[in-house]
Amino acid sequence: MEKSTKIAVLVSGTGSLLESMIEDGLKIDLVAADRECRGLEIAEKAGIATELVKRTSFKKDFDREAYTKQMVEALQKHDIGLVVMAGFMTVFVRPMFDAFPNRVLNSHPALLPSFKGAHAVRDALEMGVKVTGTTIHVANLEVDEGRILAQKAVDVKPDDDEDSLHERIKAEERKLYPQAVRDYVAELSGE
Ligand code: GRF
Repeated sequence: MEKSTKIAVLVSGTGSLLESMIEDGLKIDLVAADRECRGLEIAEKAGIATELVKRTSFKKDFDREAYTKQMVEALQKHDIGLVVMAGFMTVFVRPMFDAFPNRVLNSHPALLPSFKGAHAVRDALEMGVKVTGTTIHVANLEVDEGRILAQKAVDVKPDDDEDSLHERIKAEERKLYPQAVRDYVAELSGE
C-alpha cells in the first residue's frame, strides 16, 4: 500500500506560518492544535479540518507520553503521512516518532545547531550574535535536532528587541517553509 502524503500542520499560536502555507497553495488536510489559538481559526476559515487535542496541564504533572499518543491517534484518524509543526509548542516523545519516522518537520527561529529550545530569539539577542535566522529540519526525539532541510540568515539590528527580531525571522520562515515542505514531499515520493 502507498504511504499517505496527507499533510497535517500543528499550531499553538498566531499561525502565521500556517497562513503562508495556505497562501502558497500547499494542500493541507488537517490543522491540529494543543490549545485554542488563532491558528485554528485560520484553518476553519480556510475550510481545513481541525483537531483540538487540548493540553490540560503545563506543569510538572503533564503526562507527555499520554498526550503524544492522543495526538498520534488524532493524526492517524485523518490518515496523515507528514506532520508539519508550525509554532507548535508541545514537545513530543517517542510514540510520535515511532508512528511517523522521518515524517515530522519543524521550523526553529535560529540557525541550528545554535540556540536550541523555546527561547531561541531571546537567547540569540542575549549572546549578542550579529546574524541569526531560521532552520527547517526533520524533527526527532532530540529537541531541535534532526536533518536540516533549509536555512536562511537574518541580520540582527543594533536596536532589535525580541519581538522585532522574531518578526523579521518569521517573515523569512513564511517564505522558506512552504517550499521546504513541498521539496520534502517530493523527496518522500521518490523514495
Ligand atoms: C516561528 O518563529 C517558529 O519558528 C516557532 O514559532 C513561530 C511560529 O509563528 N517555532 P506563528 O505562530 O506561525 O506566527
